[in-house]
Amino acid sequence: MSSNHFGSTLAAEADEISQSIKPRGKQFTDEAEAFVQTLDRRVAEMMSSVENSELYQLIANPSTDPKFVAAMVKYVLLEVFSYGPHVTEATFTAIGRFPKDRPDLMKPLILHDLSEVDHGELALKDYLKLGGSEEEARSRRMTPSSFNMAATCRRIGEAESPFAFLGYMYPFETLTPLLTERAKAFLQMHGFPMEARVFIDTHAEEDIGHANLLALMVKRVVEDYPEAKGDILFGFDCFERVYPLPIWEDALIHAKAELGL
Ligand SMILES: [Fe+2]
Ligand SMILES: [Fe+2]
Repeated sequence: MSSNHFGSTLAAEADEISQSIKPRGKQFTDEAEAFVQTLDRRVAEMMSSVENSELYQLIANPSTDPKFVAAMVKYVLLEVFSYGPHVTEATFTAIGRFPKDRPDLMKPLILHDLSEVDHGELALKDYLKLGGSEEEARSRRMTPSSFNMAATCRRIGEAESPFAFLGYMYPFETLTPLLTERAKAFLQMHGFPMEARVFIDTHAEEDIGHANLLALMVKRVVEDYPEAKGDILFGFDCFERVYPLPIWEDALIHAKAELGL
């Protein structure tokens, strides 16, 4: 798919640029490395709460009705279509507010965000393959959970420190490859249609590079702006209250309604 190829090329370019930020062989400071380790511990905690959720355990259970699993994925994809454009716009806003003597920090992050702009549309395509209505998707009122997610990212991007957005983007990009890799195994088990797995399969692969890029950029930012650590942690605190379980809860309401449960 050309849009995917375009996205992957941008992501590769962003990765290449970010690698050139530090001269080869030069390490980041211990403080910067420790900060990313703190974020990684927080992401691991988020992953544990996902694994302990009733919904995750239902999807992981081989005896769960495959129709229910397919409906859940269908409506999670619809949520992605709803909040996705807001997250990318909020992110462009945040990066646009970076210190104007730092195009070196802005460019890889802008390229990364650019590689994400059509991912809502990518999710919509799989939603349609699962029987969803494009007209309904494009005209419906978004769910409260997607609204909360969108509002959180927009407020962070517009009003907090410009670096605070890394507090939502880092866990977003670090959790996605973990969740989509698990989803691939569960969907295989439930006989989920391969043709509707483009969004999931793309993210299981592509977001590993995005997570690495974000780790590098967080280190670079906190090394040059140590005060950004508190801003990034605040962004993280806000984000983990709106993602991912609340989003899945709204998807569950739609899945149940469709199946008459
Ligand atoms: Fe994406
Ligand atoms: Fe990504």
